Amino acid sequence: MNTRMRRLRKSPTIRRMLQETILTTDYLIMPLFILPGENQKDEISSMPGQYRWSVDRLPEILEQITSANIPAVLIFGLAENKDECGSEAWSKNGSAQRAVRFIKEKYPQLCVITDLCLCPYTSHGHCGVLAGIEVDNDKTLPLLAKAALSQAQAGADFVAPSDMMDGRVKAIRELLDNNNLETTGIISYSTKFASAYYGPFREAAASAPGFGDRKSYQQNPANIREAVRESLIDEAEGADMLMVKPALAFMDVISSVRQESRLPLVCYNVSGEYSMVKAAAERGWLDEKSIVLENLTSLKRAGADLIITYHAIDAARWLAE
Ligand code: PBG
Ligand code: ZN
Repeated sequence: MNTRMRRLRKSPTIRRMLQETILTTDYLIMPLFILPGENQKDEISSMPGQYRWSVDRLPEILEQITSANIPAVLIFGLAENKDECGSEAWSKNGSAQRAVRFIKEKYPQLCVITDLCLCPYTSHGHCGVLAGIEVDNDKTLPLLAKAALSQAQAGADFVAPSDMMDGRVKAIRELLDNNNLETTGIISYSTKFASAYYGPFREAAASAPGFGDRKSYQQNPANIREAVRESLIDEAEGADMLMVKPALAFMDVISSVRQESRLPLVCYNVSGEYSMVKAAAERGWLDEKSIVLENLTSLKRAGADLIITYHAIDAARWLAE
């Protein structure tokens, strides 16, 4: 008797019956870049098809998101004025805060998640305040917590700290709870690598570090034991969901964190991953639809519950076909 695997792949019907991993739109989160000011829709040159929006122009993209049935957005605020400590991050009228209020008023069914970091708001572009040329961990924590509080007060369902300071989940949770915001959740960028895949994003969010790099706070891509520890520590500090970022080169990390924690796990299919697919597709070297659906399905298979992706609107449309 020969084992014949092809019996299980014989027809489209049998293949459909035996598919183990199903991608649906329910799992997709769309990132949005918010500009200060009015009447702005700016294409991001390194991310074809992605734009930066002023709040008044958001309905155009929110209509696409809601009609595609995408459940959630991730908000990135851009600064009007930067300073040493990134104080616009906790301004009530910052671009992120205004976007959250606008979306919650006009599209109350959308889940609104806010990226929480200082780098778009600091003059030096680092994710925390400086002591000399180092980022000072413990001086940064209260500032992150203050920014989280202002995003939560604007109405965010979840704040998502992406700075990689130690102890920030605990600091944020305490300040939210002390302000009666115990229903606002924390999606921690718990395992975030110091990755070259963020290149296009730093143009989009104008958040590149002015000197040096982020390797003293973001994690070394070579380490998986450390990657699992990072996520488990954030779980212990009170995170509601964990995240692995980037996604495609880190599927082993997604799978390991999935095995070690029972929390919902998010992965971030980042800007460089998006731009690589778009660049190859534009040249006709890859079929965009097939590649995107294969990538996203594979992230699910690796163990991600939710996927943050710039392909969300296209993917949702293809899944509905
Ligand atoms: C800010 C932040 C970054 C991303 C999300 N939040 C950039 C960075 O850490 O340098 C990257 C997102 C992407 O590349 O799509 N801390
Ligand atoms: Zn940052």
